[in-house]
Amino acid sequence: TRQFAVVGNPIEHSRSPELHHAFAKATGIDLNYSNRLAPLDGFAANIQEFFNQGGTGLNVTVPFKEQAYQLCDVLTPRAQVARAVNTLWQQDGKLYGDNTDGQGLVDALNALGWKLEQANVLILGAGGATRGVMLPLAQAGASQIVVANRTLSRAQQLVEDVQPFITTTTLSAIRLDQLSGQFDLIINATSASLSGEALQLPPELHFQQAYEMAYGKPSSFLDQAAQRGVPISDGFSMLVGQAIEAFSIWNGVKPALEDFLSLKS
Ligand code: ATR
Repeated sequence: TRQFAVVGNPIEHSRSPELHHAFAKATGIDLNYSNRLAPLDGFAANIQEFFNQGGTGLNVTVPFKEQAYQLCDVLTPRAQVARAVNTLWQQDGKLYGDNTDGQGLVDALNALGWKLEQANVLILGAGGATRGVMLPLAQAGASQIVVANRTLSRAQQLVEDVQPFITTTTLSAIRLDQLSGQFDLIINATSASLSGEALQLPPELHFQQAYEMAYGKPSSFLDQAAQRGVPISDGFSMLVGQAIEAFSIWNGVKPALEDFLSLKS
């Protein structure tokens, strides 16, 4: 039986064990996936213990993704851009780290039938959630990604940091209160919905599809998009997508995302 876990603080509400057990059942892989609560000052010791006891793969969640990034010996390019790691494994005595959030989002958008090839994308927010998805969004073929943030300097810094990794996508930064123009896809990667705050989408801003990274919370962003009659989605599909991508790294099989969206309810 292969051993997996998710480590975080808090951790009891994580849906990862349920998701990974569903993937295991669908693919016939014998595994156990548990929750690990690490003390805020005990992350490194906790993951050491997990791998010493023969664990195969570990997911990392709040607030340890940046620490995980710091501890890795080898990072994938998308984890380097994200500066955060949510998926760990060991190989030849080295600690490997990846970030599957961005590919999870891309797979979620594909499952919705929303095209990223040549798409003009607007992403709201310039925190870790945005950083985590930039490289996969660009690699999926977006022709332009505009990062809009309340604090403009943070969006500018993010674009500057990510630019060296990206060649064919045009990146730019704008202030959140100066939103306007025409986009194929708008993604809310701010933490506004998580903290119950409202975002205003002005009438000068036009878009064809709206994706909210948060899920399970009221979202004024999605409410406004729905009022315009465009297709909308919350972030449950991205949660499933990032879990599937981690599962496929560890187990070498990638279950179809569409098969697990019904786990939401
Ligand atoms: P995360 O890791 O979830 O991205 P973060 O790094 O704290 O969290 O970033 C939160 C993002 O949401 C930031 O872009 C923040 O804007 P600022 O950089 O200006 O702080 C944005 N954000 C949070 N609450 C917001 C609100 N009420 N309106 C607009 N943007 C908000």
